[in-house]
Amino acid sequence: MDTQAAVLWDRGKDWTIEEIQLDPPKTGEVLVKIVGSGLCHSDEHIRSGDLPWPLPIIGGHEGSGIVEEVGEGVTGLKAGDHVVFSFTPACGRCRSCSRGMQSLCELGRYMADGYQMSDGTSRHHCRGEDLRLLLLLGAFSQHTVVNEANVIKIDDDIPLDIACLVGCGVITGWGSMVNTGELKAGDTAVVVGVGGIGINAVQGGAAAGAEFLVAVDPVEFKREQALAFGATHAVASSEEATALVQELTKGQMADVVVNTMGLGTGEQIGISMSMVGKRGRVVVTNLHNAMETEVSLNPIELVLYEKQLRGSLYGSANPRVDIPRFLDLYRHGKLNLDGLVTKRYQLDQINDGYGDMLDGKVLRGVMSPQG
Ligand SMILES: NC(=O)c1ccc[n+]([C@@H]2O[C@H](COP(=O)([O-])OP(=O)(O)OC[C@H]3O[C@@H](n4cnc5c(N)ncnc54)[C@H](O)[C@@H]3O)[C@@H](O)[C@H]2O)c1
Ligand SMILES: [Zn+2]
Ligand SMILES: [Zn+2]
Repeated sequence: MDTQAAVLWDRGKDWTIEEIQLDPPKTGEVLVKIVGSGLCHSDEHIRSGDLPWPLPIIGGHEGSGIVEEVGEGVTGLKAGDHVVFSFTPACGRCRSCSRGMQSLCELGRYMADGYQMSDGTSRHHCRGEDLRLLLLLGAFSQHTVVNEANVIKIDDDIPLDIACLVGCGVITGWGSMVNTGELKAGDTAVVVGVGGIGINAVQGGAAAGAEFLVAVDPVEFKREQALAFGATHAVASSEEATALVQELTKGQMADVVVNTMGLGTGEQIGISMSMVGKRGRVVVTNLHNAMETEVSLNPIELVLYEKQLRGSLYGSANPRVDIPRFLDLYRHGKLNLDGLVTKRYQLDQINDGYGDMLDGKVLRGVMSPQG
């Protein structure tokens, strides 16, 4: 079939809207009509070259939609099912999945390649070239073909143009705080960077019972949003946060700091490490330039205070359990999804959407590829 998608041909250039040719799903694959597609900063890292993954590529990994056709051997999904994409595959059978570490599913080794996991070829073509899919999904399109390992069936009553948000922002942010950071009721936590990911670290921290929950962002609108989503304090810089946490905890410092600023730096890791106290956890969720190799921190604090530095992919979550669970929380008014969407876009407004994100104007932008 012919359909439309946002394609990145060259690093540093804009996304272009293209007519693409889409093959039917092969064994283990499904054809999905996309209804909602969130604009996450990770796609911007591919565009800017912080993450120099191979091109040309269809962007988008925070997606939801309706299954239109299933390939051979697909038993867990059928045409008409409402689904949310998991941007890490979760086969459910490998060593990682079996140990309750679905975000680290062994199929993750195909994520950067972007061709179909089943046979290493592409179902998406344009101008005579095979296209790759960002995180194996390509949700910036009207239709896509993806492996069933990345597809989570959800209940029909949840609006799809909202459900997409759990596919990255919610599960990553909340999970970074609660799963990776192991925040407990009564703990003190800091979130550095209040975008689509950070706001959900705030939301998760508030739900898990943080006593003091400090949000850091240079943009005033983001600080206001953080307070509305449950932060107890909001400041413009990590320096202010450090002084504030010192005062609030009488020098004990934070239990968890989650780094969710748009582009991480080695220097920020050191600053965040100085914000945690004994056995405190610094969670690195944001992406760094792939070439960065230096981190500044005081290693003796790792020993004397048992401080810990932890990476977090997809919030250390189990998407097959957690995506439906988050939508249950939404249904019962315990997870705010509607308030995450500042602005909606059409497919051909994608570059405007990313401009708004980089200008700090939106908590999350969501695109409706069907118009
Ligand atoms: N680990 C994962 O699984 C995973 C998943 C999704 C996204 N990410 C990454 O998480 C990061 C955040 O993504 P997002 O979509 O929320 O981005 P975003 O652009 O929506 O938000 C980033 C926020 O950081 C703020 N910021 C910038 N510099 C800052 C500083 N020095 N101090 C405090 N705040 C600062 C910005 O004002 C902005 O509000 C990105 O690097 C993204 O690639 C990681
Ligand atoms: Zn994302
Ligand atoms: Zn697996």
